[in-house]
Amino acid sequence: MQQMPCDLFSRSLAFATDMLAKTIGVLTSGGDSPGMNPAVRAVARTAIRKGVRVFGFFNGYQGILDDDLTELTHRSLAGMLDRGGTFLQSSRCRAFYTEEGRQTAVRKLADHRIDGLVVIGGDGSLKGALELGKLGVPVIGLPGTIDNDIYGTETGIGVDTASNTIVEMIDKIKDTARSHRRCFLIEVMGRNSGYLALTTAITAGAEVAVVPELRYNMPRILELLSSRYRNRMGDSIIILAEGVCEADDFIKRMQEAGGDQLKQEIRKTVLGHVQRGGRPTHADRLIASRMGELAVLTLLQGERNSMVGLNKGKLTLVDLDKVCSQKKHLPTDKIRLARHLGIEIGDAVEL
Ligand code: F6P
Repeated sequence: MQQMPCDLFSRSLAFATDMLAKTIGVLTSGGDSPGMNPAVRAVARTAIRKGVRVFGFFNGYQGILDDDLTELTHRSLAGMLDRGGTFLQSSRCRAFYTEEGRQTAVRKLADHRIDGLVVIGGDGSLKGALELGKLGVPVIGLPGTIDNDIYGTETGIGVDTASNTIVEMIDKIKDTARSHRRCFLIEVMGRNSGYLALTTAITAGAEVAVVPELRYNMPRILELLSSRYRNRMGDSIIILAEGVCEADDFIKRMQEAGGDQLKQEIRKTVLGHVQRGGRPTHADRLIASRMGELAVLTLLQGERNSMVGLNKGKLTLVDLDKVCSQKKHLPTDKIRLARHLGIEIGDAVEL
């Protein structure tokens, strides 16, 4: 990972702006995440400030293919900082999976005289950015996904808001769990990643987290629930990452493993897309703004085919091919913390 020294920017920007980019594009792609709007806003405001025109493509990569774009101005960006979702809209563009689709996109970008592109999205979107880069388009990616499964960054835009939403929802569910001595199984997002499940288990005070990266231990889970119930602590929360299985399926597995001997009721709540919505938190607005600014500054410097990541509190540039080819692991300090707090999270598996 390269670290970008900030003074380098101030020294070379006037030159770089003249030399490299007169017009840039920005798009949001894949699943929306809270903070995408502040990121687009930061990209646009920074570009405008540097005398660069900036166009937003609607509906992700599809907007390039459909010539669906608009020039972003201070007026069009007004009110976007605190709005969830993405006003540019988003999609998973099927045509973009093909070489032909990507070639068309390159042609269209050239037609619109776009000198560089900022792509905000998750793993699939960043793969699209990498492919565009290989075809000669200067691209900078920003990690925009609540799953926090992108290699090369400790967090993504939207992770903090989604985590807060999950915790808020679990706090409410716990009221009922306590009142009825029930066990609640709560399914959270994370297609291939248990990050949200693990960290919200810590901050919401769950008893169990079931994540795709670790092998759950059903006998231990059932023993934990039974012993809590026996000791008049009947309320138990299990957080299940969707990447493991669906909530109904997991309850079935519990019953098959002897869980029907549990004296308490087990109910499920699938949080679903509520996790992707809502006003971005302060932390997400800040990281989105910082990443958006750096994306433009680096593009203007001639940087390309990189993603802006956050590492040890500092923004870094990570090669997109590395981002797209490496797997992000669950943070070991959070696994250790969960274990020390008594959360049942299963055992390491050989991958
Ligand atoms: O944004 C990532 C994610 O939230 C995954 O956790 C989930 O599997 C997926 O999006 C669902 O997205 P959609 O319903 O838009 O297909």
